[in-house]
Amino acid sequence: MLPGEPVDFSHGDVDSEAFPTTPASLQIFMDGVRSGGNQAYTEYRGREDIRAYLAECLGEFTGLAIENADELIIMPGTQGALFLAMSANISSGDKVAIFCPDYFANRSIAKFLGSEVIDIRMDYLDVDCGAGLDLTQLENAFKVGCKSFVFSYPNNPTDVIYSREEIGEIAGLSERYGVTVIVDQLYSRLVYKGHNYTHLRETSLSPAKLITIMGPSKTESLSGYRLGIAIGPCEIIERMEKLQAIVSPRAAGYSQAVLRTWFSEPSEWISERIMGHQQIRDDIPRILRSVDGLRVRDPEGGSYVFPKPDEPEPNRQKTSSVVRKIVGRSTDVRPCKCSRASREKCRNPLGLEAFCLWRLGRWFYFGTLQFFSQIAKTQLVSD
Ligand SMILES: Cc1ncc(COP(=O)(O)O)c(C=O)c1O
Repeated sequence: MLPGEPVDFSHGDVDSEAFPTTPASLQIFMDGVRSGGNQAYTEYRGREDIRAYLAECLGEFTGLAIENADELIIMPGTQGALFLAMSANISSGDKVAIFCPDYFANRSIAKFLGSEVIDIRMDYLDVDCGAGLDLTQLENAFKVGCKSFVFSYPNNPTDVIYSREEIGEIAGLSERYGVTVIVDQLYSRLVYKGHNYTHLRETSLSPAKLITIMGPSKTESLSGYRLGIAIGPCEIIERMEKLQAIVSPRAAGYSQAVLRTWFSEPSEWISERIMGHQQIRDDIPRILRSVDGLRVRDPEGGSYVFPKPDEPEPNRQKTSSVVRKIVGRSTDVRPCKCSRASREKCRNPLGLEAFCLWRLGRWFYFGTLQFFSQIAKTQLVSD
């Protein structure tokens, strides 16, 4: 084990200088505060006029109209939406299909709920087109009684966007086997030039079997407001609301007001934001590729990169200098804030989930591999 303070790379905070929050968000939040109880104590599922506004924008964005504001619920963060969507659908003993790799919380929540996770392979580095999803394995999982399929898209941590054909096949298989799909589209507004994004809601998959999750935390830098939404059939939304009423019981009322800025940013705002991220995503894979033996796929949407080492392992010194170069850009390396137990886990690099990501202009690390996380720590300690 390397000496020194562990560093928490498990989440990225908003870099408000590199990527400020969306225009007008603070003003609208303050207006919400000034309006008092009326904005503070909304319905559990979120204030109706805000849901109606979102139903219109998100129906248009996702390619299928949301007829009724009751098909939408506002929750504390995309993570809140994910937890409630999974909890409302998955019971102990259920089989749940999850891509490998995928957002770590999908697996944690599935396990917490007592379900059996069936891993679905994604060979994202070994394909000429598409994401390398093993759809035969997915079908086999459905055949053996998998009831739910949970995935992020664009995928965290690989930043791969599944092709139109792959999304069509996922929809077809889910429909055929009656599987409920929970898709986390948190990064669906951050799609890089040359890539096309097909919403699940545009496909043949019945909306009765689909829950779409989104939020303004990343592209819009609004993570501190803790907002997320889910779109789904009324009965499921109702079930999620019942659970939310017990836990939260609503997304913070003043924050909900900020959702009025979502999808109503100034006209050039979103393309400029994507461009800002694209400059980072053009840079980082190039730097990583300078290490022989590191395989990197260019991110297609989102703010992660997920390189893999070839065998034999890449040159340590060279990787170390590359990591130094990348971490040197970070202005947010800080001592680990997690619990003592998690700190111990941080010290066991094999316990961590993924290699590295950039978020909002800064770099953070997870570590799948002892090799990378040791190098990351050497770097961080020596800084
Ligand atoms: C795929 C995915 N879903 C959900 C979340 C949680 O987002 P939020 O801050 O909106 O709760 C993250 C955060 O990194 C994520 O990457």
